[in-house]
Amino acid sequence: MPENNRKAYIVGIGSGTEEYLTPHAEKIISTCGVVVGWESGLEAVRNCVAGKKIFKQDCVNYKVIPYKAAATAKELDTDVAMILLGDPLAYPAGSNSFYKQFAGFEVVLIPAVSSLQLAAAAAMVSLENSRIILYHPDSEGCIDRDDLAKKQKIMLEALKGGYNLIVLSDIEQMPAQTAEFLLENGILPETEVVIGEELGLAGERITRLSLSEVIRFDSSWMSTIIVKA
Ligand SMILES: C[S@@+](CC[C@H](N)C(=O)[O-])C[C@H]1O[C@@H](n2cnc3c(N)ncnc32)[C@H](O)[C@@H]1O
Repeated sequence: MPENNRKAYIVGIGSGTEEYLTPHAEKIISTCGVVVGWESGLEAVRNCVAGKKIFKQDCVNYKVIPYKAAATAKELDTDVAMILLGDPLAYPAGSNSFYKQFAGFEVVLIPAVSSLQLAAAAAMVSLENSRIILYHPDSEGCIDRDDLAKKQKIMLEALKGGYNLIVLSDIEQMPAQTAEFLLENGILPETEVVIGEELGLAGERITRLSLSEVIRFDSSWMSTIIVKA
């Protein structure tokens, strides 16, 4: 239950360019006195954060900073906006993390276009006929091995059941590793794959290749793959 009548908006901003930033997201951010996010996200919303108290996340402080932003928003009696690239509903740590970080606030998710939708569009697959895979981190920030085993089982079942895969990369599970796992587990080498890198950004690259070719493909960490059923 909210304790302070204030809202914590988890604001999706799309790929990080103006084209994918919605007027709704901008309007919400402009009503908040406190804004928290990574540099790339904050840079994308620079036009609507003037005069606000900004909390910047980085590789060292990213876990504690949202708690600090929440404490300051409580002190200032204002709403807080957490800026996320893509869609907050496609978030590996899951929405439970937002409830912990912003305990006492009413948490409101503001959706946006995700990299998974941009990849699905590039590959021309429908979301309805696809299974979305996000690899989760463990408490140390490494890939969660139990979750990985679960996701690998889901991927095989989905492909065998006629569903495409939309897989967001993890630094420990890049497209090459996902392809290697699928090949070792009986998915055909000629299976069609589309790799979308830096989708919706200036460096966008879309590559169509076979599953066996993905093993030698050196992709950006900012990549999402579609494996066609
Ligand atoms: C922490 S997840 C966040 C996903 C984000 N919420 C979304 O909806 O796109 C990060 C992963 O999303 C994917 N990703 C994020 N931005 C991307 C982009 N512009 N192009 C391709 N994949 C992207 C990559 O797989 C990356 O490792």
